[in-house]
Amino acid sequence: MKLGILGLREPRRRLQSDINPKNCQFTNNTMAEVQKTEVTMEKIVSLAKRRGFVFPGSEIYGGLANSWDYGPYGAQLKKNIKDHWWKFFVESRDDMVGLEAALIMNPKTWEASGHIGNFSDPLAECKKCHERVRADQVPLASFEGIDFNDENQTKEHALFIQTWATNPARAISTYPDSAEKYKWLCPNCKFENKIELPKSFNLMLKTQLGATEDTSNEAYLRPETAQAMFIDFPAVQQMSRKKLPFGIAQSGKAFRNEITPGNFIFRTREFDLMEFEYFFDPQKSDWNTLFEEWKQQMEQWMGAVGIDSEKTHAVEIPDGERAHYSKRTIDFEFDYPFGQKELFGLAYRGDYDLAKHEEVSGKELRYIDPETSEKILPHVIEPAFGADRAMLAIMLSAYEEEEVKEGDIRTVLRFKPIIAPVQVAVFPLMKNKEELVGKAREVYESLRKDLRVEFDDNGNVGKRYRRQDEIGTPYCITIDFDTLEDDTVTVRDRDTMEQTRIKVSELQSFLGDKLQS
Ligand code: GAP
Repeated sequence: MKLGILGLREPRRRLQSDINPKNCQFTNNTMAEVQKTEVTMEKIVSLAKRRGFVFPGSEIYGGLANSWDYGPYGAQLKKNIKDHWWKFFVESRDDMVGLEAALIMNPKTWEASGHIGNFSDPLAECKKCHERVRADQVPLASFEGIDFNDENQTKEHALFIQTWATNPARAISTYPDSAEKYKWLCPNCKFENKIELPKSFNLMLKTQLGATEDTSNEAYLRPETAQAMFIDFPAVQQMSRKKLPFGIAQSGKAFRNEITPGNFIFRTREFDLMEFEYFFDPQKSDWNTLFEEWKQQMEQWMGAVGIDSEKTHAVEIPDGERAHYSKRTIDFEFDYPFGQKELFGLAYRGDYDLAKHEEVSGKELRYIDPETSEKILPHVIEPAFGADRAMLAIMLSAYEEEEVKEGDIRTVLRFKPIIAPVQVAVFPLMKNKEELVGKAREVYESLRKDLRVEFDDNGNVGKRYRRQDEIGTPYCITIDFDTLEDDTVTVRDRDTMEQTRIKVSELQSFLGDKLQS
């Protein structure tokens, strides 16, 4: 959750509870001997590029910092994640409807929502090299005049550091003599800068509409998908004839002019959001109960797409540290190689947004209770998921290096079959034997009607297995000379590496259920 410079937020390490594993299904490691090696960002970034998941954007022009293009497997994986999310939260439920609103909305939307006024990060600029950084993320370099033998001074020092990491402006106003004591270290040139009140940097990305360039045509690329679901609430409710409680879901691009994007696809200036607003009558539904239900649903979905529950933490955001609109927030955080950081968020937004839009637009955004004809301003619970962060967490959860035999290490992405970019790979044993290629094509064509299937005849079969392991394909099917005799094929399991001989006519039923989870 991004906060305005006045929105207070401490490091989120307390009141932390692990996700209940009962609610999740995990990628089971069925191998007897698996060498668990540490997964680093270097390994993930290198695999992502090598195998065509994600690679730097605009490369022929020297690239564009922190812009990423999703290659064939990455585009498919992200689509599968988004489709699964849509199926899980929208298509499978009676109380949810979808929306695809315009990305560029009337700028008054962002005035009302508070984004133009508040959606900012604290900005500091290095006096020497002029590097611009997020003040709350810079390391503090030196502490002058602090007596660490004095308990009070040590305590105050700890509180200052903690407050700075959340809200530098508040840190300075709470500890006015901090400017004499502390310096911050420029991450670029290592110059030690004096501490001073950071500037407030708005994260909205501006654009110009139409043929003139005056400010009257200024608009913004949406920083979240949520606001359209608020301003369209009455229209969608009437069109869908839904009764409270019900939700409106939307997935699509969002844009934020982040000061310090980075860590691969973790923080970028354009990203995919999947979120929904769940509207309810506060007189009839208890928000605490709904909040807990949505927390569990989020946990279930994370398990279903293969996000490792042991690396996931539900962190309660204490009073005074939440976004201005939130009455309760839980951040789901993930253990990335670069630290425990936000993955998804769950917030109880009360009636803040609907009330604000009523006030600014002068239009009524109420629900008419069909039984009492009473006009109600619903309250809202909002689960918000970043699709790119989901993909990163899924890749990090699925990544494994395994010593197959001495000195022979395979890299495998143990994706859940339901989201794997390729579910089945079909190989002819040899590519220069027409009868094998013909039969393999036949099997490939019959399976691809229902599954995501790839045909591969490059290199030897061992190399093809390794390539499919690296892109996370659960099953490989090889057509060999026996196939021509008895119509059986070899099916090789990604996780166990076991090979089973199966009749072609039984392939569909053999694979069917296995690929649905
Ligand atoms: N409507 C609520 C909202 O937008 P948020 O916490 O600011 O809340 C929701 O964003 C999710 O979007 C985050 O939990 C994260 O998964 C993702 N996200 C936010 N900023 C991002 C960025 N710069 N790059 C990639 N994903 C981002």
